[in-house]
Amino acid sequence: MNKFADYFNIQPVVEASAPGRINLLGEYTEYNDGFVLPIAIPQRTWVQLAPSNDPWNTFFSINLNQLVHYRAGDPVPTGFGAYLAGCINVLREKGYSVHAVNALIHSNVPIGAGLSSSAALEVAMLKALRALFELALNDIDIALNAQQAEIHFTGIHCGIMDQMAATLATERNMLFLDTRTLNYKLLPLPKQSELIVIHSGVPRRLSDSAYNQRRIECKTAAQKLGVTALRDIVDSAAVETLPPPLNRRARHVITENARVLMAAAAGIKADEFGKLMNASHQSLSDDFDVSIPALNYLVALLQSHPAVYGARLSGAGFGGACIALTRNGLGLDIANEVLVDFQAEGYRGYLLT
Ligand code: GLA
Repeated sequence: MNKFADYFNIQPVVEASAPGRINLLGEYTEYNDGFVLPIAIPQRTWVQLAPSNDPWNTFFSINLNQLVHYRAGDPVPTGFGAYLAGCINVLREKGYSVHAVNALIHSNVPIGAGLSSSAALEVAMLKALRALFELALNDIDIALNAQQAEIHFTGIHCGIMDQMAATLATERNMLFLDTRTLNYKLLPLPKQSELIVIHSGVPRRLSDSAYNQRRIECKTAAQKLGVTALRDIVDSAAVETLPPPLNRRARHVITENARVLMAAAAGIKADEFGKLMNASHQSLSDDFDVSIPALNYLVALLQSHPAVYGARLSGAGFGGACIALTRNGLGLDIANEVLVDFQAEGYRGYLLT
C-alpha cells in the first residue's frame, strides 16, 4: 500500500495494522467474567499516519472511498470516522499528547460479518498513534483504550475480547484470555489442524435485542445465585434451582467456561478440541437459544465431514458465520464440498477465510 502520498502529498511516517478475529470457544462468557479463546484471521486493517499541519484530522478510507475531517473537541463524526476520532479522544482525555493527524485506512476484514472489523480498526489506529507520538502504552492499554473508544464514541457496549484479540492474537496463536483479570496466554492451534470460517449467508437478525436480553438474563441468574458473575459458580448443580430459561442460560455459561479451560490444556489433540467445539454449538443452540436452522444445518454438514474435527456457530449467533477445525491442508476442499450441499438447500453461504 503506497497511496498515502497520492492523498496527502506527503509520505506516511508510521504504519500499523491489526487483524480481524474469530472466537474458537468461549461464546457469551465474556460478559460473565469468563474465559475466551479467540484467534486472528488472515484479514487485517492497516492505518498509515503522518502529523497534520493544522488542528484538523483528515481520515481517508480506501475501501469506503470516504474522506472525514475532524477537529478534536468537535462532535464526533459518524461511520468509520467515529472509531478513529474515538481513539484520538480517549487518549487525549487521559492526558496523552496526541495531535492532529492525516490517516489513510485500508482493510480486507469483511464488515458486518462478525469478524470484528471495528476492533481491528481501533487497534490499528491506536498502535499507529502510539508509534507516531511515542506514547507509553503497552498492548493491554491499547486493547482497553480501543474498548473505551468503542463504548464511548460509537455507543456499542462491547466486552474486551475483540480488542484483546486484535491486539495480541496471531493466525497460529489463540489468545486464552481471562476476561476478569485480563491474564492471558498465547497457545498454538492443535497440531495438524487449521480453521475455516463460512458465512451462512443469513445476516444477523434481532441480534441486538436478543444479545441484550441474554446479557440481562445472565445478570439476573448471577444475582439469584448470589454471585458477582456466573463465572463464580462453583457448584454447577445450583443452576438447576433457577427458573427457566435462566437455568439454561447459566448452564451454557458454566459449561462453556469449562470447555475453554479444557481446550486450553497443554497439548490438546485436534479431535478432543473439535469435540469441545461440537458441544459448544449444542449448548449455544439448546441452552442459550442463539442458533437458527441455517446455522444448525451448516454446522451439521461440517460436523459430518470425515476431515472435520469439530464445528460450531461463531459470534453472537442468529445468523452470521460458522467455524470448523479441520485436518491441516484440507480446509478449502472441505469448505467447497460443504458449500455445495448447503447451497443445494437454497442457502447462500460463502467462505470467509
Ligand atoms: C459478539 C460480540 C463478542 C461476544 C460474542 C458472544 O460476537 O462481538 O464480543 O460478546 O458476540 O460471545
